Amino acid sequence: MNEEQRLEAGLVKPATVKTASAPEKDYSKYFETVYTPPSLKDAKKRGKEEISYHDDFQIEERFLDMGAGRKFYIRTYGCQMNEHDTEVMAGIFTGLGYEATDTVNDADVILLNTCAIRENAENKVFGELGHLKPLKLEKPDLLIGVCGCMSQEESVVNRILKTYDQVDMIFGTHNIHRLPNILHEAYMSKEMVIEVWSKEGDIIENLPKVRHGNIKAWVNIMYGCDKFCTYCIVPYTRGKERSRRPQDIIQEVRQLAAHGYKEIMLLGQNVNAYGKDFDDIDYRLGDLMDDLRKIDIPRIRFTTSHPRDFDDHLIEVLAKGGNLLDHIHLPVQSGSSDILKIMARKYSREQFLELVSKIKAAIPNVTLTTDIIVGFPNETDEQFEETLSLYKEVGFEMAYTYIYSPREGTPAAKMVDNIPMEVKKERLQRLNKLVNEMSAEAMKPYQGKTVKVLVEGESKRNPDVLAGYTEKNKLVNFKAPRSVIGEIVNIKIIEAKTWSLDGEFIGVVEEEKVMSK
Ligand code: 5AD
Ligand code: SF4
Repeated sequence: MNEEQRLEAGLVKPATVKTASAPEKDYSKYFETVYTPPSLKDAKKRGKEEISYHDDFQIEERFLDMGAGRKFYIRTYGCQMNEHDTEVMAGIFTGLGYEATDTVNDADVILLNTCAIRENAENKVFGELGHLKPLKLEKPDLLIGVCGCMSQEESVVNRILKTYDQVDMIFGTHNIHRLPNILHEAYMSKEMVIEVWSKEGDIIENLPKVRHGNIKAWVNIMYGCDKFCTYCIVPYTRGKERSRRPQDIIQEVRQLAAHGYKEIMLLGQNVNAYGKDFDDIDYRLGDLMDDLRKIDIPRIRFTTSHPRDFDDHLIEVLAKGGNLLDHIHLPVQSGSSDILKIMARKYSREQFLELVSKIKAAIPNVTLTTDIIVGFPNETDEQFEETLSLYKEVGFEMAYTYIYSPREGTPAAKMVDNIPMEVKKERLQRLNKLVNEMSAEAMKPYQGKTVKVLVEGESKRNPDVLAGYTEKNKLVNFKAPRSVIGEIVNIKIIEAKTWSLDGEFIGVVEEEKVMSK
């Protein structure tokens, strides 16, 4: 790619600005005239251009020795999509000859794979950059990089340029495959290298991966989000919706099954929009799940769903069961139709409840979990009460709950953030109390029952105890020989707690009859 093509593609030219020598400069203005900075405005554009698919990723020969004698460390913040991106970056590092380390002090390259979803996620990263400064002073050859969602925000890039001269590289979520070139540039120039595409890249199929463990695997089915909920930064940082081709996903799942993985988590910011962008085939999430359920692998989950695109065909396919698990994470965000409207969720309380009824009718044993935001601008006490009543009415068994956090560049950030923090906190506490009560309630019936658990390893709290998850994603702790790690086992539940179950090991489930249900 020549310079002109790079700029046309929205590629930021590596910065030639030495921040240490010019800290007072207004970089945003400078970038506007000379470079293409990451731009939330550009990121909002949804072009008609086609997505190209590539399977020709290769590490250039000249880079093959880059990592010899060097170690990398990646700290991941945020969602499973980020965790999976870290697996890809670890794959690229390994291909370059680097060795992984989990000790920051041993690393020659440190990457922070960041999350932009709420302000406190961002603050953690800035705090960590502060902690890394003495290490950089001690080891000037150390490379520190910032990637992930925060690097797609121009305000973050400007702040790093201005204040964090310990950073050597910033690259965006669409630039991961460029890691070898970015590292090379950083070694050569010793100036901050910035490579952030505002426009999403193509889909690259054959990126290397070093997966975390060999029991459960993440598989991307699509990238980006076009929903533009008014509070959410994701459509800007992750770009427009792009679906992977069905055959590529099916092949990846088949290979994982052949390698002995027991559980697949299909990933996307809004998996229910899967396939909407295909113009040559009519193939949506329901079709994909229907094909995947025929693969001989015990468990398939997906995350995360948007109620709006949750169609009847998908429900019909999920009802077939087998390896398609009867747990659905369905973020509702609020129980008030008025708040849902200003969140631009494109469904009302009544429509959400109708969807839940349909799902329950088709899958009577279904477990539903959700995400909720409290303290959205203008949320009244009554509207918050509606969230509590919806939570009870649906019978959610777990929720991730959040205080609304304004994100610069989103429509909601222009609304007055008029709910005082103590009110937001009080609402969160009340909601969490209900969430705990309903979780404990959902756990009770397990007492005395036998459940199938995929054993993941030692319990985090007690190395003498093993832990794993049921099909409905309930954490189970029990004593058993370590040889059952990675197996699906039967556990008799002895004690139901609020968030976990304690049980007794009965035996390994001999045969997972994937096709028989
Ligand atoms: N403030 C608080 N929570 C948010 N989420 C997304 N954006 C924000 C925000 N600006 C929550 C939503 C989403 C989950 C991943 O994070 O509940 O479902
Ligand atoms: Fe954000 Fe809404 Fe897209 Fe989820 S569906 S990533 S909340 S914009």
